[in-house]
This record gives sequence, C-alpha cells and structure tokens, in this order.
Amino acid sequence: MSENKAIRVALTKGRLEKDTVGLFEKMGFDVTELKEKGRRLILNIPGQNMEVVLAKAADVITYVELGACDIGVVGKDTILEHGGEYFEIADLGFGRCRFALATKKGLDFYGGVGVKTVATKYPNVTRNFFESKRMDVDIVKIEGSVELAPLLRIADGIVDIVETGTTLKENGLAVIEDVVPISARLIVNTVSMKLKKERIEQLTEMMKSAL
Ligand code: PRP
Repeated sequence: MSENKAIRVALTKGRLEKDTVGLFEKMGFDVTELKEKGRRLILNIPGQNMEVVLAKAADVITYVELGACDIGVVGKDTILEHGGEYFEIADLGFGRCRFALATKKGLDFYGGVGVKTVATKYPNVTRNFFESKRMDVDIVKIEGSVELAPLLRIADGIVDIVETGTTLKENGLAVIEDVVPISARLIVNTVSMKLKKERIEQLTEMMKSAL
C-alpha cells in the first residue's frame, strides 16, 4: 500500500513552474488545478494522492527541510546558496543556466592591485568561488538587477545567473569566467526518503522517463 501514501510536493514558482507542470502533464497527471490556480497556493492532483505547494525557491528548501513537503523542485542556484539538510536525488535537466563572473566589457578584472569588490544576490556562492581561487574579495549583497552595480561603480564585477546573456550584453557587460552550471533539481526530505521510499522512487522514475 506504500505506493498510495500521500505526498506533498513543493514547486518553485515562476520559471521552473511551467516546466514542472509540463513534466507532470507528460506523466499523465491531471494538471487542471495547477494551470487554473488563480491565487491559490496549495493545489491538488486528482487521483494521485498528491498535493502541490507553490513557493519561492528558498522557501521550497525550507518546507522540504522541515518535512512540511516531502519533495521539492528547486534550482541548483538556490541549493548552492542555501545549503541545508535534505537529499538531492535528480537533475531534472530543465531551467538550465549558469553562474558567471562578469564585468564591464573590456575590463581586466584580475589585473591591477587592491581587493576587488563583487556584487551579487548569492554571497555564499561568490565567497566559495573566490575562496577556491584563494582570492580575497569584498562582497556586496544586492537584491535584484545586480548588473547595475558595475555601471554605478559600486563593484568591479558581479557573480550572477546568466541564461541567454542578453541582460549582460544590453548593459555593456561580459562574462569573464563561468562559475558553475545550474539546472532544476529534485530534493527530498530525509525522513520522507525512509518513510515514503517506494512512492518517492516510483515518482522519480516516472519523472525521469518523461523528461
Ligand atoms: C536573472 C539574472 C539576470 C538575468 C539573466 O534575473 O539575475 O539578471 O536573469 O538572464 P539572461 O542571461 O537571459 O539575460 P531575473 O530575471 O531572475 O530577475 P531578478 O534580477 O529580479 O532576480
């Protein structure tokens, strides 16, 4: 009977949401509620004993860590920045982009003397990247449109998500170096992994073969 155990999935709102709903549809799930959700945040997938919770990326991790949700779909960017106690069990392949170090086009970021300043929404990812290079930098935390920081001369460079490269290009910035590739991942609560193992494995296999 374990395959019928109720399961709650936390899904990152926005970019990853559409791809995940598309994946569920390919798996033969009735995604009507997910497509016509209005402002509702907890949605039911009929016949699957499955609930979907829509949340911001960092909250997806929190809900999975706390066991409020058994599994979550979240970007590797948030996983790297947030850390935490859960299992990362699959790369879903969609939501592909990368973290990159970028500066004003033509600027020699590594040249000259003095500690460089780097602006980012991801201070932990940035710290780890420069620590791996044994390079001392000052990090400035920015909440959005990090590309502004070098243009306003508050930073020498940025570490940010690059998808198509359009935002950098349109603002006269260019990638100096790739930091790490990113894609959507499936994460699982540590207790759910034991108590609902069969159901979770079954669902993961279904997701992988529908990808
Ligand atoms: C992300 C990122 C870049 C942009 C990159 O921002 O921070 O600004 O996308 O995409 P591109 O390479 O295709 O141009 P997002 O749109 O998530 O908005 P935010 O800055 O408000 O987080």
